[in-house]
Amino acid sequence: MKLKRRNSEIPERNKKNNGMENNLIDLKGIEKVYIMGTEVLYALKGVDLKINRNEYIAIMGPSGSGKSTLMNIIGCLDTPTSGEYFLNGKNVSEMDDDELAEIRNLEIGFVFQTFNLLARSNALHNVELPLIYKGLPKAERIEKAEEALYNVGLEDRMTHKPNELSGGQRQRVAIARALVNDPSIILADEPTGNLDTKTGQEIMQLLEELNQKGNTIIIVTHEEDIAMHAHRVVKIRDGKIESDVKSEKGKAMSERNEILI
Ligand SMILES: Nc1ncnc2c1ncn2[C@@H]1O[C@H](COP(=O)(O)OP(=O)(O)O)[C@@H](O)[C@H]1O
Ligand SMILES: [Mg+2]
Repeated sequence: MKLKRRNSEIPERNKKNNGMENNLIDLKGIEKVYIMGTEVLYALKGVDLKINRNEYIAIMGPSGSGKSTLMNIIGCLDTPTSGEYFLNGKNVSEMDDDELAEIRNLEIGFVFQTFNLLARSNALHNVELPLIYKGLPKAERIEKAEEALYNVGLEDRMTHKPNELSGGQRQRVAIARALVNDPSIILADEPTGNLDTKTGQEIMQLLEELNQKGNTIIIVTHEEDIAMHAHRVVKIRDGKIESDVKSEKGKAMSERNEILI
């Protein structure tokens, strides 16, 4: 499957070295504590993590290690109990609700393990939805939704409902929905968790192509062969970062860049 883009222009803000600060995400001493009755649960115990623009990074770790909690904080869906989060150089904890909503709607595209599609709506309508929230006129919404579906290779499935699509196709609809606002960051929490191996690899290939187009990709997975597609792998255990290394692919890429320079 090839990522097609009718409009091959890379959005200005996604281009590398366009004068903007290269650091996109800067987490400092992030802690998340859940209090459940008398029980105090430390989901994140001081996470420091910097992610640059246009990285392709996998976050790995066993179940319950804090991966989704971390993703939700990065995606501004949740706030840390303590610590600081700078996104694009701006302190997220100082943003008001409008600013946060704007970031979630315009900067970040979410992809989940369970697709989260509306069952009774066809692919086109599912992808159009974020644009309805944004208040775009109908004709423009349809055009953008069609383009997003085209870009993930689903141009001939636009009128199909989720139950008329395969798992991989459903996830592609979800990716099209995440892309329809042209976000700079794609956050995918176990996007291949409900897919067979081959379809999972196809979704990873699609994310790779998005990364090549300039998107920053952060994916959560507990599968090594899925993580291998990313250029950097961060392992977390018990709410703490255990390791943070370049993958073989990431190493090969930086060697290539060095030769080019
Ligand atoms: N809303 C919540 N309320 C209470 N505890 C939570 C909540 N969300 C997550 N947790 C707990 O925080 C820990 C980390 O969860 P999570 O980030 O979902 O892990 P992972 O995604 O790595 O499986 C787990 O022990 C989980 O039970
Ligand atoms: Mg999780």
